[in-house]
Amino acid sequence: MFYKDLGIDLGTMFTRIADGTQVLLSEPTIVAIEVEDQKMVAVGQEARDMYGRVPENIEVVRPLKNGVIADYEITETLLSYLLQHVSGSMRIFRPRVMISVPNGITSVERRAVHEAVLEAGSRDASLIQQSLAAALGVDLPINSPSGNMVITLGGGCTEAAVMAMYGIVSAETLRLGGMELDEAIVNYVRRKYGVVIGQVTAEQLKVRIGAAVPQDTENSMEVQGQDQVTGLPRPVTLTTGEIVEALQEPLKAIIETGRRVLEKTPPELVADIIDRGVALCGGGALLRGIDKLLTKSLGIPAYLVDNPLTCVVEGAAKAIPMYNILRRKLPQV
Ligand SMILES: Nc1ncnc2c1ncn2[C@@H]1O[C@H](COP(=O)(O)OP(=O)(O)OP(=O)(O)O)[C@@H](O)[C@H]1O
Ligand SMILES: [Mg+2]
Repeated sequence: MFYKDLGIDLGTMFTRIADGTQVLLSEPTIVAIEVEDQKMVAVGQEARDMYGRVPENIEVVRPLKNGVIADYEITETLLSYLLQHVSGSMRIFRPRVMISVPNGITSVERRAVHEAVLEAGSRDASLIQQSLAAALGVDLPINSPSGNMVITLGGGCTEAAVMAMYGIVSAETLRLGGMELDEAIVNYVRRKYGVVIGQVTAEQLKVRIGAAVPQDTENSMEVQGQDQVTGLPRPVTLTTGEIVEALQEPLKAIIETGRRVLEKTPPELVADIIDRGVALCGGGALLRGIDKLLTKSLGIPAYLVDNPLTCVVEGAAKAIPMYNILRRKLPQV
């Protein structure tokens, strides 16, 4: 048995675990349970595959909503299963954990994360703001007194933050993310065509043909839906331009979040950010043209980082040996 330090990113859609050298695991934040006795049936990808295809006695649950724990017991079950999973055949004796949380959540919400990860079998747990973890994960020079800006576009929340000297100078957390973008597509298709499509289908449209700004080459995709009136199956074909239109409302809220952070940031730091640009992290940063949209609307060059999906968990793991430097900047529980 040996000790190990682990970083955890407990995301609305994916939970990721890393040690100081690599990402060890990335699984959908989903658990399938038996309704009657709340017994776990499946976790992660296996549970996700069951979504919408299970008998009545089994429920498929997402225990996080918009970046915070919505179901404590199930979150704890998920974390304890995943922690056991990474320890594999070599028994890791109760790891020390650094777990990321959105910056703008309440102390009650933070305590729930702290307690869940301790109950799940860690020896010691500290929290880190996800923006700070993301900045460490993409190697921004946040040890310096100059300003660095990150926008994390997750599945359930969006966070914009300016950091300097290992601390957060100004930040905003918006409880809206990729899932709300999918919902906007569902609503758009219902309004325009009278066809109801599922969220999984909406996400596929977003990822395969979607964009944040109009594109030179239009793609199209046919999907199956249900006629709103007759309830019968009906195919509908959507184009890139239509998805762009569908996404405008939620994207506006994301832009506003970045803008409010810049407004709160001292001018010297804003000057640094204009030079360095804004790092875009999280799965939502992969939306085509989101860098262009944010560059244009914020007046600051926005760029996609190399590791948008894993930078938060990598940064959380990196933060563990830096604990003494970071201690006073981390959220208290
Ligand atoms: N190519 C893509 N284009 C657009 N969106 C994408 C793409 N790839 C992934 N996404 C979106 O990224 C989101 C998931 O991102 P991520 O894994 O960072 O979320 P999370 O960490 O689980 O959530 P959160 O941090 O908000 O709690 C999903 O909404 C997904 O649809
Ligand atoms: Mg995330």
